[in-house]
Amino acid sequence: MDKYDQVIELAKRRGFLWNSFELYGGTAGFYDYGPLGSTLKRRIEQIWRELYVVHEGYMEIETPTVGIEDIFLASGHVGGFSDPLCECKECKGAFRADHLIDKLVPSAETMGNAELDAAIKEHGVSCPECEGELGEAYEFNLMFKTQIGPGNGRQGYMRPETAQGMFVDFLRLARFYREKLPFGATQIGKSYRNEISPRQGVIRLREFTQAEAEIFIDPNDKKHPNIERFANTMINLYSDAGQDTGIVEKLSLADALDKGIIAHEFLAYQIGLTNHFLQRVGIAGNKLRFRQHRKDEMAHYAIDCWDAEVDTDRFGWIEIVGIADRTDYDLNAHSTVSKTELSIYREYAEPKMATQFIVKPNMGQLGPLFKGKAKAVADALKAMTQEELEKDEIKVMVNEEEYTVPGDIVTFAEETTKISGETIVPHVIEPSYGIDRIFYSVIEHAFLEEKLGKSEDDEEEDARIIMKLQNEVAPVQVAILPLLSREELIQHARSIENRLRTKGLLVSYDDSGTIGRRYRRNDEIGTPYSVTIDYDTVDENTVTIRERDSMKQVRAPISGLQEVLYDLMYNDKEFESAGEAL
Ligand code: ATP
Ligand code: GLY
Repeated sequence: MDKYDQVIELAKRRGFLWNSFELYGGTAGFYDYGPLGSTLKRRIEQIWRELYVVHEGYMEIETPTVGIEDIFLASGHVGGFSDPLCECKECKGAFRADHLIDKLVPSAETMGNAELDAAIKEHGVSCPECEGELGEAYEFNLMFKTQIGPGNGRQGYMRPETAQGMFVDFLRLARFYREKLPFGATQIGKSYRNEISPRQGVIRLREFTQAEAEIFIDPNDKKHPNIERFANTMINLYSDAGQDTGIVEKLSLADALDKGIIAHEFLAYQIGLTNHFLQRVGIAGNKLRFRQHRKDEMAHYAIDCWDAEVDTDRFGWIEIVGIADRTDYDLNAHSTVSKTELSIYREYAEPKMATQFIVKPNMGQLGPLFKGKAKAVADALKAMTQEELEKDEIKVMVNEEEYTVPGDIVTFAEETTKISGETIVPHVIEPSYGIDRIFYSVIEHAFLEEKLGKSEDDEEEDARIIMKLQNEVAPVQVAILPLLSREELIQHARSIENRLRTKGLLVSYDDSGTIGRRYRRNDEIGTPYSVTIDYDTVDENTVTIRERDSMKQVRAPISGLQEVLYDLMYNDKEFESAGEAL
């Protein structure tokens, strides 16, 4: 078993992750989160909310997971959200064409279908399942289609990203934020992609959770007011140039900005915030890097993109967060398809005086001369220059037809007018987090097989499996363990359990098996502290608190236990100060 197998085996056995529809044989690309998995995932999401919604002030919205066709026509997903698919002519298995050859040729991901076919032929690649002959590569759209309403109802799609919901609500959001840039909205929710052959467990799912922020900013001002917060943060940067030589540079964000590696402060700030979030939930700093998209890989609408990547045992470096400057692409695209202007109006602090060339055709005379064409002729005149208009007879083209307008019925002049504001189509900065990939990386990085060299509590084990989860995300924070299943111990244990639950701590009660086995079970699920209730508890009102990582134990009074554990959990209280060392 490699580490992935070990982690998934533990995750399944202990109620973190289960194959969906297992009762019916399961289907690739879907996972259930069990009781511990759901709690861990929610806690990760909660920290994300704390950072983006509470601290940054980008309020959360909730939009449907089904979208109408217009949305995805505008966003480009109907036309272009596809992966190259190759089918086996024998067994009918389906494969990502680029994945079939990505170990054999560089940049398989950026190849067109003809190039992929040629490379597959050149390297003699056959079906990985049955070695049969492969058909030609073709584009397979990754959106799940559905129908809205009965009969010949409207075509709908399951959303492939939460982002579009925020773009479609742009005008409402702009009004909500009183049209003051920058402002942002967030969503945590399910997205759907009909991935071709998801063989990477939770890394590539067909239904997954994204946490996305769409931050609308002034296109002419990409400075971030709080950049100082992360200016000195050292980040592992795998820049476009670095990828030519395979060098990951550790640089402060201030240096990366100075050297022009990161396009602007707003993106740099998002890289800093993402780095902070990922390490806070438990991603190992030495297994985290930020990789810049290469020129040929960047989405056509983006000007700079960085992926947070983590190193995993089986899959190597995988993307878990994408951070992009999407420019005004999405707003313009939705403007065109919806025929609605998606912009904000910004009033200047001081009105500006501007000189404009104004053309005034005399409509009273143009009307009788040109009848139904008069307005089109007037519009064409308004677009002409002074030189073109200074004629006795002005020649005007309308729909490729020439018209002659007497010069004396058109007046023009330079006029100075007061302009009090401007219309702006904001640019969008988007951090897009994949919560499931983060979840998996957190448990893999926390997973540790530890050789103990000695037995603990008379158990004869010399190794343990431990998940070193951060206190803030652990799905069980305190295990309550009565030493024996006796009434007087159980009574105390249940009363302590209730007090800790009332304090808001996540508690489990476990009285089955030996105490050593129960410690191991809790080590495996990452419970930071265990509280053992024994006969001294009955006699002296004290309990033993055990720390997961050090396996140290202290004896502490029952009174105030909930505050002590709360401080250990959230206020960096030293374990040694929690009671008397044992
Ligand atoms: P990949 O190249 O690995 O397919 P992507 O470039 O398509 O990823 P994005 O479109 O940038 O990913 O999506 C944003 C985030 O959503 C990713 O960083 C990832 O964490 C998550 N994500 C995307 N597709 C999946 C999936 N099929 N299963 C789980 N998470 C996903
Ligand atoms: N919203 C970015 C993505 O999902 O691709």
